Amino acid sequence: MVRAHIVSTGMAVPEKIINNFDLEKIVDTTDQWIRERTGMFERHVTDKDTAASDLALLASRQALEMGGIEPRELDAILVATISGDYAWPATACILQHKLGAKNAMAFDLSAACSGYIYGLSVAQAYIESGLYKNILLVGVDLLTKVVDWTDRNTCVLFGDGAGATILQPNGSAAGILGTLLGADGSTADLLCQPCGGSRVPISEEAIREKKHFLYLNGREIFKHAVRVMTQTCHDVLKQCGLTLDDVKTVVPHQANIRIIEAVAQRLGLPMDRFFVNVEKYANTSAATIPIALHEAREQGILQSGDRALLVSFGGGLTWAGGVVQF
Ligand code: ACO
Repeated sequence: MVRAHIVSTGMAVPEKIINNFDLEKIVDTTDQWIRERTGMFERHVTDKDTAASDLALLASRQALEMGGIEPRELDAILVATISGDYAWPATACILQHKLGAKNAMAFDLSAACSGYIYGLSVAQAYIESGLYKNILLVGVDLLTKVVDWTDRNTCVLFGDGAGATILQPNGSAAGILGTLLGADGSTADLLCQPCGGSRVPISEEAIREKKHFLYLNGREIFKHAVRVMTQTCHDVLKQCGLTLDDVKTVVPHQANIRIIEAVAQRLGLPMDRFFVNVEKYANTSAATIPIALHEAREQGILQSGDRALLVSFGGGLTWAGGVVQF
């Protein structure tokens, strides 16, 4: 059977770092509160001239180089993002041009923090069906551009970043063993950017009411996240005919260390089975999982033959799981 295999990875974060002590000077918060409630210490933040495609380009070039693949060999570019360069056209098209990947079709997909695993599932289907062979999948978000920097409830939680992966067909055991996606639109208002779409177009009034900023109901999302991430881990493993003992490392969405700890506890796994980098990057939305995969590969935590269990949740609300063998 042909499997979709992750042949290489790349990542990019902006140079500028804002740590918790810097945030103490901006809003009414403390390093202690942020560390204890979120596990975050610093986050990378883009300057005003940098957009999603700029970070995506750096991460993509690294993944292409590592995989020994020329941009012209790509036949599909998928970008998971909710903070693309423009409302439209797709950031994937801008990335395609910057890379010179003339032979690739390109589109964005919007599933918030679950976007990367949603994209993985799309890439898996394309490759297993034989439709496309060389796919660049990027998760990128710059949510620091859409948070209210006077609101301590949200501005401490996010950072900017991009993670890229190249997927190709593979005849061996390695590859994406399974993916599982879910959504519950009845909870869409728990996490959203209310203004800027066709429901609430941009207007002076909407901006006065701060509707162009990211809104979240943190407490509700927290509960939802723990429940669906735990269930998704069980469900996707079952779908693959595997158990927790068959995976080396869990790579979860990095929204809050306490969410990850609660999932670990419910799964009965020690925290050292989880890859965590939330203290360095905060929540980079669709980029958390590809960045974590890149770092886990670079640090030798995920080596050839190892299986990783990926799990995420995000706006929509959406959730997603995947099992990948390297
Ligand atoms: N510094 C100091 N105090 C703060 C801060 C801050 N940065 N932020 C909130 N507080 C205060 C609140 O005002 C509240 O004060 P009050 O009791 O006087 O009203 C108090 O801290 C406790 O607030 P809670 O909401 O109960 O705090 P909680 O422990 O739930 O942590 C948090 C809040 C971190 C937001 C948590 O609920 C969380 O991580 N939720 C999920 C986060 C999320 O939705 N991320 C996006 C996921 S989807 C995606 O990734 C795009």
